Amino acid sequence: MRVSARADYALRAAIEMAAASDCHVTSDQLGRAEIPGKFLETILTQLRRSNIVRCKRGPDSGFWLARPASEISLGDVIRAVDGRLLSVRGEPAENATYPGPAEPLRRVWIALHAFGPSVLETVTLADIVSGELWLPDGSRGPAAARPANNCVARSHGLCSSEAMGQRYDEFADWYDTYVTSGMGQPFARSADRLLERLLGPGNDRLCLDLGCGGGAHVPALTRLGWRVTGVDISPRQIDVARRTGITATVADAGNLPLANQSVDAVATIMTTTDFDDLPSVFAEAHRVLRPGGRLVVIAAHPCFGGVFVEHGSDGSCIVRPGYRRHERIEENPLLGDGIRSRVGVVNLPLPALLNALTGAGLILHETAEDDSDRPVPSLFGMTATRPSGSSRPSDSSRPSDSSRPVT
Ligand SMILES: C[S@@+](CC[C@H](N)C(=O)[O-])C[C@H]1O[C@@H](n2cnc3c(N)ncnc32)[C@H](O)[C@@H]1O
Repeated sequence: MRVSARADYALRAAIEMAAASDCHVTSDQLGRAEIPGKFLETILTQLRRSNIVRCKRGPDSGFWLARPASEISLGDVIRAVDGRLLSVRGEPAENATYPGPAEPLRRVWIALHAFGPSVLETVTLADIVSGELWLPDGSRGPAAARPANNCVARSHGLCSSEAMGQRYDEFADWYDTYVTSGMGQPFARSADRLLERLLGPGNDRLCLDLGCGGGAHVPALTRLGWRVTGVDISPRQIDVARRTGITATVADAGNLPLANQSVDAVATIMTTTDFDDLPSVFAEAHRVLRPGGRLVVIAAHPCFGGVFVEHGSDGSCIVRPGYRRHERIEENPLLGDGIRSRVGVVNLPLPALLNALTGAGLILHETAEDDSDRPVPSLFGMTATRPSGSSRPSDSSRPSDSSRPVT
């Protein structure tokens, strides 16, 4: 992977514009950022053609960003002037140093080297200027510390999310066979149809498959025209997911290694009954979604898919006591012989699911059930959007602690 001198200078020019108080810079200012004149003119022309930069000639001439800095990814800038990426100007990425606001670029190159080009799609010019980078190496800006209880994706210590990752690691190959060609296949295809209905066409935009597992739903997402990046807590599942050709990162859904407003959609399928802290996961989905971006949740039906339901061979079901228990269940004869008997489940009453979503500041749009011909649905789906112009909800708008599972 190589970042050309031209791409490097283009990024620095764009970052200078993003850092300027009115996003406007003069040629002299760009010269002070150590961008040689012989590159500058060509670079600015290419950035202008790609609708990244605007320019004005005359006495008050200058350059400014054509769009908000939070909507221009580093990948956009590099693609405008260059092709694909390979070392930074012929040197190892860790040797790159930058003066001024471009200083965080060095960390991006290192993450790019380790995690591939998806990093470029998640970091925007505004993230560089603020220094608030969420990179898959688990690091953030220089001063920012992560919450102590979200220690997944770090190599030291055990926490409940890490233990969950280990559980899924153990069944990664089994689960992949189960959903692609085994007993779980009809269920997975039914989830795909629901996903197709609720998510809609991607037109080459970026979708985060949150809790992607082995990537069972990547083909459906790709068919819809989405570019997909996956996150999952289980390293073995991530290995399996990468075989589908997507970029995928090991991380906790409650602490995503993605920049603010960096994805166009989030799809999370058969995961809500895995997360012990669903409100935090939806808050993270809100953070990484672009304003207007869509979250699609597909889950075991809260009323008919839980461990309190006994299924008959004719599709009938008997609802036993237990629906109201909002807690993790590890042992129960009704866990069945699929993945739940192996990894357990968080029983999630319908209001807990819906309130976690609305409490994160997302706007609920549509709900749906699977289209199977069985008398009782097995799957529940819903879509929500991140409203335009809203920032992250305050903690006080979250559901109260009493709605969280007892673990
Ligand atoms: C039932 S599987 C579903 C996988 C995939 N979405 C599918 O439908 O095939 C649930 C997935 O959630 C992941 N998971 C559980 N807790 C997680 C967490 N805190 N952060 C990220 N992923 C998590 C598990 O590792 C597992 O791959």
